[in-house]
Amino acid sequence: MARRKFIAGNWKMNKTAAEGAALVKELKEKLGGCASGCCCSGPDVVVCPPFTTAPAVAAEAKGSCIQVGSQNIHWADNGAFTGELSGAMLKDIPVTYAIIGHSERRQYFGETDDTVNKRTKAALKAGLKPIVCIGELLAEREAGQTNSVCERQARAGLAGLTADDMTTVVVAYEPVWAIGTGKVASNEQAQEVHAFVRSILKDLFGAAVADATRILYGGSMNAANAAGLLAQPDIDGGLIGGASLKAADFAAIVAAAK
Ligand code: PGA
Repeated sequence: MARRKFIAGNWKMNKTAAEGAALVKELKEKLGGCASGCCCSGPDVVVCPPFTTAPAVAAEAKGSCIQVGSQNIHWADNGAFTGELSGAMLKDIPVTYAIIGHSERRQYFGETDDTVNKRTKAALKAGLKPIVCIGELLAEREAGQTNSVCERQARAGLAGLTADDMTTVVVAYEPVWAIGTGKVASNEQAQEVHAFVRSILKDLFGAAVADATRILYGGSMNAANAAGLLAQPDIDGGLIGGASLKAADFAAIVAAAK
């Protein structure tokens, strides 16, 4: 079964509301309208701005093929969770996707496999589509633990989900050593892990779900290397950080996914 490609920009802690709206305006111009195939035959296109920037971005993106996501979501409906946002609040923005378990959240903010699982379930409950991130550290790769780390993170992050839930879940494989470093995984390195992750999805949810689930690559993907990565049979798109902050670069990656 052909999986529709999926290109998501993770803006991280960049762009004020005005800057974000301007970036989306430029992106719309570069991508063209529906007639150019952006929303018909092209990939899903999602941008994930900071929370305060997201309303302006959503307003600018309205009516276009660009969808908006958050960079996190809390698992509770409300309560004493300083600095966090619930699914209902995110739907107010409105966003349709939520990045969950990004390695920077794991590294700097105490995200664990367990909290990734709770956030993923909360997103599904709120009707948001989770982009669940997994990926090994450099030391883990060098110790030959890439598959075991990715397997643990995928099994724990997706624990308790049904095949039906999986119809809206996107998985992002992001080797931590490749994020923001300019050291992209080779096409073969990335394909190997993607195929392995798909085998885990098959074990968890069956062949049909494994075949249908989009698995994105993230880590120094850019306009120059995107086509090679996206040509791999198990790489269904990208989660792009740095190169998503420039409309021309991000549009070129979207074009490479067509
Ligand atoms: P990068 O970030 O493209 O800047 O390496 C990717 C990510 O963190 O999602």
